[in-house]
Amino acid sequence: MSKIVWKPGTFINPVPAVLVTCGDMENSNILTVAWTGTINSDPAMCYISVRPNRHSYKMIKESGEFVINLTTKDLVKATDWCGCRTGAKFNKFKEMNLTKENANFVKCPLIKESPASIECKVKEIKELGSHHMFIAEVLSVDADEKYIDENGAFDISKCGLISYANGGYYSQGEKLGKFGFSVQKKKK
Ligand SMILES: Cc1cc2nc3c(=O)[nH]c(=O)nc-3n(C[C@H](O)[C@H](O)[C@H](O)COP(=O)(O)O)c2cc1C
Repeated sequence: MSKIVWKPGTFINPVPAVLVTCGDMENSNILTVAWTGTINSDPAMCYISVRPNRHSYKMIKESGEFVINLTTKDLVKATDWCGCRTGAKFNKFKEMNLTKENANFVKCPLIKESPASIECKVKEIKELGSHHMFIAEVLSVDADEKYIDENGAFDISKCGLISYANGGYYSQGEKLGKFGFSVQKKKK
């Protein structure tokens, strides 16, 4: 084999680094989560994996709700900071100058500065080891109007979304193709 073999590890790259909000409008918190993803299309379902010693863990477990706020270049400092400081000691909304907005279906606040916030209801908690996985149903996707184009579609290329890979934050590169392009017949 031409590859170096390492011990098992978390090496799926890139992943999102999202800002998860929890609690309610009065008593809220934000934590950064990289262990997140979509796990079902219909109903739309996703997960976040959280260490039980996080301040946010109890808030999410008790309320059964959280919001995934997508992150952008403008939010990269907040993304890192909210992942290095605890809500037990800091008001992260205040420290990072983020604006709380009411959600539609959950009590947790949305982050106004995020281009899309995904409201989630916990369905199951899997105690995997270091992290507990909150499996959740998506109740709604709240998109910032400024990214909706003239056809009513969300123009994701305009948001400046970031990803997280091997410990670093990255902006998005060029678009290489769209779903199905490899099998699409060429128009005559
Ligand atoms: C880029 C990044 C990704 C992170 N991903 C996770 C994660 O998936 N799960 C987790 O439990 N903590 C993760 N953390 C750590 C928490 O965000 C961090 O411990 C945070 O301070 C917890 O906040 P809290 O104590 O206010 O809940 C991540 C931190 C960073 C910077």
